Amino acid sequence: MINEDIDIDQLIAAWAPQPHELSVNVDGVNHSYGEGDLRKQVLFNNRLKIRRGEIVIMTGPSGSGKTTLLTLIGTLRSVQEGSLKVLGTELKGINARATTDLRKRTGFIFQAHNLFESLSAFQNVGMSTELMGMKHTHAKPKIEATLQRLGLGQRIHYKPKSLSGGQKQRVAIARGIIHQPDLILADEPTAALDAGSGREVVTIFQEMAREHGCTILIVTHDNRILDVADRIVNMVDGSIHSNVLVQWNSAMCQILNDFPVFRGLTPSAISQVADMMELKRYSPGAQIIRQGAIGDEFFVIGKGVVDVIVDGETVNTLVDGAFFGEVSLIKEQPRNATVIAKSDVSCFVLSKDEFQAVVESNSTFEEELRKAIFMRQ
Ligand SMILES: Nc1ncnc2c1ncn2[C@@H]1O[C@H](COP(=O)(O)OP(=O)(O)O)[C@@H](O)[C@H]1O
Ligand SMILES: [Mg+2]
Repeated sequence: MINEDIDIDQLIAAWAPQPHELSVNVDGVNHSYGEGDLRKQVLFNNRLKIRRGEIVIMTGPSGSGKTTLLTLIGTLRSVQEGSLKVLGTELKGINARATTDLRKRTGFIFQAHNLFESLSAFQNVGMSTELMGMKHTHAKPKIEATLQRLGLGQRIHYKPKSLSGGQKQRVAIARGIIHQPDLILADEPTAALDAGSGREVVTIFQEMAREHGCTILIVTHDNRILDVADRIVNMVDGSIHSNVLVQWNSAMCQILNDFPVFRGLTPSAISQVADMMELKRYSPGAQIIRQGAIGDEFFVIGKGVVDVIVDGETVNTLVDGAFFGEVSLIKEQPRNATVIAKSDVSCFVLSKDEFQAVVESNSTFEEELRKAIFMRQ
C-alpha cells in the first residue's frame, strides 16, 4: 500500500540518526546576555540534532535567537547551560586548543561580511587558506576557481570598496567555503544577492553536502532557497518550535494521502498531521497496544507485520501501510484488540491529543474516519 517511490529505510534512518552520525547535537541549551539586573535570557531549552551531510534551514522572527544559537555552535560564544556537541566535541567547558581545531573545520558566513578593506577579493579569501595552513601554490587555483564559480572571475583583484554589496557577500561566501569545512554556518547568506547568485550559492552548498558530507546550517528568510533544505527548523522567542524533516514530511503526506481517512483533508492539514507523526520501533514479539487499555495513540505501519489479537485469538494480520488504534481514540473506549509485532516494526504514530485536534478542526476528517470504522466492523 505504501508508495513504492518512498525509501522507508532511508526515511527511518534520517528520522532516528545514530549518535555517531550527528555533526551537531544541541541538548537543553539556554543562553543569557548581560549581568545582574540586566541579565536577560534569550535561548530556552533548545534541542536540535543535525546529521552529517544534512542541510538545515533555520527561520524565525528577528530577535528570536537564531544568531545567538549559530554563534554558540560556531564556538564564537561560550556555552552557559546545556550540552552542545559539534563534530564530536563537547563545547561546554572546551579548551582553547580544541576550539581552534573546531574553527578550522568550520566555515562561517555571517551577515556582516567583515572583509579587509585593504585586501583584494583574492587576498581576503587567501587569508582564510593561510590561517588553515594551506600552501599558496595549492590554494591559488582553488581561490580563483571558487571566485569564478561565484561570478567574481572579473573581479578577483578588486578591493571591497569597488565591489557591490552582493559581490562582497560572495567574497565572504568564498572565504567561508574555501577550506572545505566539515560544517558551514551561514547567517542570511543570500539576503544581499539577486535570485541567480542566490541559487548559485545554494547549489555550491548542496554540492559540498553531497560530495564532501559537509553539514550546513543556514539562517534565512529567503523563501527562494527553502527547497534545498533537508530539514527546516523554526525559532520563536528563543526556542526551536518546529523541526520538519522535509523529505519525511512529503513522504508522510504521500502515505497519508493513500488513506481513506485522510482523504478530504487539505494538503496543508495533511502536512500538519504528517508533521506531528513520530516514528516508533518495535522488536518481534513486542506488544504495541493492549486490549482493554486506554488508547492514546494512532498507528500507521511504515514497515513490518503485526498480529491483531482479540480475546486471545489472532483475528487479523496487518502489514505496511495498514493502520490501527483509531477506534478507541475516536470513541473514547478502551482498546478493542491487542496488537503484537511479528517482525521488526516501524510505525508512524500520532498522539491522541494531536489526533483529536486534527479531527476537531476538520469535519470531513471525522466523517471519513467514522465511515472507515463502520466499514471495518
Ligand atoms: N551581544 C548581545 N548583547 C545583549 N543582547 C543581545 C546580544 N546579541 C543579541 N542580543 C539579544 O538577544 C536576542 C536574540 O538576538 P539574536 O540571536 O541576534 O536573534 P536573531 O538572530 O534571531 O535576530 C535579542 O533580544 C537581542 O536583542
Ligand atoms: Mg540574526
